[in-house]
Amino acid sequence: MNILLIGSGGREHALARAIAASPLCDRLLTAPGNPGTAQHGTNMAVAVADHAAVIALCRREAIDLVVVGPEAPLVAGLVDDLEAAGIRAFGPGREAARLEGSKAFTKDFCAEFAIPTASYRRVTDAAAAKRYIREHGAPIVVKADGLAAGKGVVVAETLEEAEAAVDAMFGGSLGDAGLELVIEECLVGEEASLFAICDGDDALSYGTAQDHKRAYDGDRGPNTGGMGAYSPASLVTPEIEADVMARIIRPTLAGMRARGCPFRGILYAGLMITAEGPKLIEYNVRFGDPEAEVILPRLADDFLAVVLRALDGGLGTAPPRWRDAVALTVVLASKGYPGPVEKGSRIGGLDAAGARPDVIVFQAGTAERDGALVAEGGRILAVTALAPDFATAQARAYEAVAAIDWPEGFCRTDIGARAVERESRRD
Ligand code: AMP
Ligand code: GLY
Repeated sequence: MNILLIGSGGREHALARAIAASPLCDRLLTAPGNPGTAQHGTNMAVAVADHAAVIALCRREAIDLVVVGPEAPLVAGLVDDLEAAGIRAFGPGREAARLEGSKAFTKDFCAEFAIPTASYRRVTDAAAAKRYIREHGAPIVVKADGLAAGKGVVVAETLEEAEAAVDAMFGGSLGDAGLELVIEECLVGEEASLFAICDGDDALSYGTAQDHKRAYDGDRGPNTGGMGAYSPASLVTPEIEADVMARIIRPTLAGMRARGCPFRGILYAGLMITAEGPKLIEYNVRFGDPEAEVILPRLADDFLAVVLRALDGGLGTAPPRWRDAVALTVVLASKGYPGPVEKGSRIGGLDAAGARPDVIVFQAGTAERDGALVAEGGRILAVTALAPDFATAQARAYEAVAAIDWPEGFCRTDIGARAVERESRRD
């Protein structure tokens, strides 16, 4: 088969590696891709937002299947447009992607189908928002309805902070994403993510992970897209995983089907494991980044074959087969990330780092200039290590990071600390 993969981050490098490894894949194209995806296929310079151009590319290159990595093209309806043109695509359509594209939609959906989540109120003006905040007190969470690239959530410790967030978002700090807000109860517990592969009718758990959203060690500093991750999430016991599938994922699939927009693709549940059991913090409608960089390398199954089963509506009930290893990834970002960064600095040592046993260096915001690899964005690399336990995986990942020569970058030094600690308590 000829496959077109959409996206250009570390997640897409991990997807490209998994897809290209399948005996079912004849040719892999990635649009627009990055130097990492180019190791597994051919990058195509296409503006993904131009759906007609993507369709033309599919026809020209005889593409049999399109796999969409990031949320923006899903929310923009790329899958609907491809299907209307007779091209198979993996990922939810525009309506089903509202589970990520609109927090207000998702909260109402959870209320209708009794899916455990924080209590909430939708608001469209500051006075109503502040009334609700004063009635409920702090801590409280203020969220913009629309996609805001990780900047749309404020977990406010005080009333003043919550009210300032309301004023900023209604004042236009996030553009149209903040035209409506959701104010919700602050959940207490530890966070974990579960990824489910869905065929519209049913779902299989496709692994768990924990990411590290804050920029600096000790979970301090601004929120980012993710500075590292590990899988599996040791906090999620088999009982909790079964509970999430039974009370969160399957009711969601049933509800989406009842609403006439069955969910096909990867459903990413951001969870808070509370004293009352797991509750949904939010949905994403795609793999996480960097979570894909720890889940896909652990998979022993043919990923493309599983995708095709999900598309045919015949996912089956056999759980995924995993390699006998845990995985941990450390993200290297340009200094200044998630704020403004300098572009163009040279990165060396990737081959030495990637040649280490059980290490994979995934590329995200890299580019090739005059034969050299340079940093072109915020998050640049994700250095993944596999090992029998988290302590070894962590040591392997950081040894590989040390082999990378990039003074303009930084990383957290405590990725996986909680998993290592939990593991040492168990021994
Ligand atoms: P998001 O940008 O939607 O991924 O949310 C960012 C982070 O905000 C989440 O990972 C949680 O740490 C936190 N968060 C969101 N909603 C809640 C909530 N209701 N209670 C506690 N923390 C939350
Ligand atoms: N790592 C968080 C995300 O992919 O949304």
